[in-house]
Amino acid sequence: MPDILWTGEMAFLKKMILNVNGILAWISGNMKDTDAMKQDMTSAYNGERTADVVNYDTYGWDHYNGVAVALLEEISLSEKHVLDVGCGTGISTIEIVEGKANKVCGTDISEYMLGELKKKVEAKGYQNVVDVILADAENLPFDDNVFDVAVSNMVLGLVPNQEKMIREMIRVVKPGGVIALSTHGPTHYAELSDAVFAAIPKRYMLGRRILYWPRGREWMQRFFQDAGLNDVKVKQSIWHDSFQSSNDMYEFIASSTGNFYASFIPDEVINSILNDIRQYFIVSKIDKITLDVVYAYGKKAES
Ligand SMILES: C[S@@+](CC[C@H](N)C(=O)[O-])C[C@H]1O[C@@H](n2cnc3c(N)ncnc32)[C@H](O)[C@@H]1O
Repeated sequence: MPDILWTGEMAFLKKMILNVNGILAWISGNMKDTDAMKQDMTSAYNGERTADVVNYDTYGWDHYNGVAVALLEEISLSEKHVLDVGCGTGISTIEIVEGKANKVCGTDISEYMLGELKKKVEAKGYQNVVDVILADAENLPFDDNVFDVAVSNMVLGLVPNQEKMIREMIRVVKPGGVIALSTHGPTHYAELSDAVFAAIPKRYMLGRRILYWPRGREWMQRFFQDAGLNDVKVKQSIWHDSFQSSNDMYEFIASSTGNFYASFIPDEVINSILNDIRQYFIVSKIDKITLDVVYAYGKKAES
């Protein structure tokens, strides 16, 4: 069951409003409709509502590559069979191949994102090393105990049943294998949360569960331990990325999220409301964004 109360940080009053809305979503039954949430997320990353995701690599490469490098530097990939859950356009997947993994399987819920990974695999001649599979992180289409390592870079916060995703990663890893994931911390993209809150008329969100749920280091530590993982380690980095202009910052956000936060907005007004979010940044002169990333590692028990 997804959370009802917002897991990120936000000003008290806004958080209260979100939490009341979460309770309404629970009462109306929308909270339980995780298939609809995943369908909205898939449409966003397939570019079906807006085309911004086509610029994912242009604006997002440095960010996602930097987070992937920080995630992977703690683990050994050499000669390993690695699963990359929510691999997107393959920024993390290519990093894993170049970290000397023996074989890598990239999975994602978006066909568009996987198409971009396939282009990279072909351009680099990695066809014998990389498998590309369309799959939901909550229901991985693999037998138990297949991979040496399961990795996921900045996906968990977008998945409705996060416990299930982590349990799936543990299930498909061999005994003694490693789970490593990075996710959105409580203040990640705080400026975007404020802009969305200001620009999207509340009537569109009423009784709908929002699609983005950050996690703090305590939750990750506790969940990894409760799941029976050994050698659990959690670290967190918080920093700010600066952009040349507020408009560039908006482009980064729009392309890296596919505007999934606009899933509730009807087609006829989506462009004008997204423009309001862009204008919020421009008028408020916001050209820096908070990045808050929690990294978690654990080892599956030997038996
Ligand atoms: C912010 S991107 C990160 C992509 C990639 N890991 C990277 O580092 O660039 C989030 C990705 O998660 C994928 N995603 C969201 N929900 C998912 C789910 N339930 N199952 C699998 N992938 C999902 C999206 O399609 C998108 O490609």
